[in-house]
Amino acid sequence: AVLVKDIYRNTEKYIDKTITISGWIRTLRSSKAFGFIEVNDGSFFKNIQVVFEENLENFKEISKFTIASAIVVEGTLVATPNAKQPFEIKATKVTLEADSDRDYPLQKKRHTFEYLRTIAHLRPRSNAFSAVFRVRSLTAYAIHKFFQERGFVYVHTPIITGSDCEGAGEMFRVSTLDLKNIPMNEDGNIDFSKDFFGKETNLTVSGQLEGEAYALAFRNIYTFGPTFRAENSNTARHASEFWMMEPEIAFADLNDNMDLAEDMLKYIISFVMENASEEIEFFNKFIDKGLLERLNNVVNSDFARITYTEAIEILEKADKKFEYPVKWGCDLQTEHERYITEEVYKKPVFVTDYPKDIKAFYMRINDDNKTVAAMDLLVPGVGELIGGSQREERLDVLESRLEELGLNKEDYWWYLDLRKYGGVKHAGYGLGFERAIMYLTGISNIRDVIPFPRTPKSAEF
Ligand code: 4AD
Ligand code: MG
Repeated sequence: AVLVKDIYRNTEKYIDKTITISGWIRTLRSSKAFGFIEVNDGSFFKNIQVVFEENLENFKEISKFTIASAIVVEGTLVATPNAKQPFEIKATKVTLEADSDRDYPLQKKRHTFEYLRTIAHLRPRSNAFSAVFRVRSLTAYAIHKFFQERGFVYVHTPIITGSDCEGAGEMFRVSTLDLKNIPMNEDGNIDFSKDFFGKETNLTVSGQLEGEAYALAFRNIYTFGPTFRAENSNTARHASEFWMMEPEIAFADLNDNMDLAEDMLKYIISFVMENASEEIEFFNKFIDKGLLERLNNVVNSDFARITYTEAIEILEKADKKFEYPVKWGCDLQTEHERYITEEVYKKPVFVTDYPKDIKAFYMRINDDNKTVAAMDLLVPGVGELIGGSQREERLDVLESRLEELGLNKEDYWWYLDLRKYGGVKHAGYGLGFERAIMYLTGISNIRDVIPFPRTPKSAEF
């Protein structure tokens, strides 16, 4: 069988030829003498129209085929220059491969995204989700392509780890201990020596620490894999299981880091706009009317770069009432981030040099001793898309930082080792992959860009 994508891309090759396609029925309407079937074969976002006429021996049967049935169609591809679709197949044979019950929930009408979440196993068959998950796949490819073309080494960091990269304690524990009979120490703590790995372990929140080890061997690396956070925040931007892409570059500082992030994002956007133009057009029409213009702007303009201190000044001067009042030292809330990027700059903004007290232990302390060489990239519609920093490469400073935060030096022994043996300056960042997909599609809820999303109290599939 020919794939529908190939028919759309190389139409000339197939016009007036006899072809066979297979796919699923999206819609079917028929009259006494003829009928139309819209078929989607999975290879392409768009359907292909099939016309069948009463000269077919099973004409009556075909007329009764149900939505979602799988069929094989043989016929001639004819150009239809005056119709909505550029061509159609005039069927000479239509056979049923697998039928579908009449109670199929995705009948042709608009469904809400909330409803479609309850049928996560069927929603990839809808137009919107067919587009979302095609873009998701393509974006992953674009990421690999960007970094591989620049000679970065792809590192598979562990999913099960013994360290808490962000030091935020928001981890899912990995354990084989019997919950009904947990072994305890004399001091009243859980005896993890009896656990599977002989110590406390958890699902990774970030591959960064391991990524740093590899950057100090390969210079430029990236990780790309699932990460897990037991944050109990039920928002449209947080998932408990999400994918993160984390480059780490040696002999590099915060500016190099921002340059890389900006180049990467522009590359990904251009690549997706070029290779998923039908999908992006669909999003622009039905999901977010400003999408195309916004993406074009991002590709063609420089991102803004401001310090946290400047951001606070902007927010203090704003004539807008925020739910959370701002003052130097506070963490930026989504409302603040969105104000800066959506109302002030109207484009992506790097915010740098955050107070050390609101950032992770591994970030490099600036000369003022109050701020760290951190960067967050804020984008319209999403807020924080990227979080990164230059890393603290000075062993003594890092050790006193761990101490200051009450973290156990022994737990980080190998990480500290990296500073002892050629620990050159280095930097990196994490791109929230789902947030990138939201940004590229205009989809406003993270649950709608993950095939089977996991969020608090929700892991149905
Ligand atoms: O800012 P975060 O926490 O940074 C790190 O984890 C660093 N170790 C990255 C690094 O420097 N290598 O997370 C990075 C990004 C965020 O900017 C956000 O886009 C995304 O990951 N993110 C989430 N996405 C979905 N659901 C969540 N619960 C997320 N938490 C973070
Ligand atoms: Mg962050």
